[in-house]
Amino acid sequence: MKRILFVCLGNICRSPTAEGIMVKMIEQKNLSDKYQCDSAGTSGYHIGEKADQRMISHAKKRNYDLTSLSRQFDRKNDFELFDYIITMDQHNYENVCDYDFGNKYQHKIYPMVKFCSKHKVDKVPDPYYGGAQGFENVMDILEDACRGLLEYVESN
Ligand code: 4NP
Repeated sequence: MKRILFVCLGNICRSPTAEGIMVKMIEQKNLSDKYQCDSAGTSGYHIGEKADQRMISHAKKRNYDLTSLSRQFDRKNDFELFDYIITMDQHNYENVCDYDFGNKYQHKIYPMVKFCSKHKVDKVPDPYYGGAQGFENVMDILEDACRGLLEYVESN
C-alpha cells in the first residue's frame, strides 16, 4: 500500500479537492487496493471543518464528493506514514520542507504542479478570497495534475 498526502494552507479548498479527485481516479482504474489518500493543512485555522461550501459545490458539478474534515499536517507522524507528500504552492512546499528538521524526508515532498501536463503554472492558486472562476481553475489544474501524479506513482 502506498500513501499519498495532499497539503495546502487551510485544508478546506485545494488539498481536499486533490484528495477527492485522486481517490476517484484511483477507483476508476481499480487501484484502490494499492493507494490510500489523505489531505492536511499547514495551518490549524479550520481544524475539524468540512471543505469550503463553494469548493464542495464546484467539485459536485464534476461528480467529486469532498467528504474530508480539515486537519493540520502532523510533523511527528505524517513524514513516516506517507510515501508522497504533495504540496499546492511554494509556501506550503517550503513549510513542509522546513518541518523536516533532519532533512530525512525531503525526497517524499513534491509540488503538485510538477505533475501537470496541460497547465503551465507554478502553483495551484488559493481560491479562498476569489470568485467562482478561481474554484473552476483549481479543479482544472488538479484534474491535470492528478492524472500525471497517478502515472508517476504507478511507474515508481
Ligand atoms: P486552502 O484555502 O489552503 O486551499 O484550503 C484556504 C482556506 C482558508 C484560508 C486560506 C486558504 N484562510 O486564510 O482561512
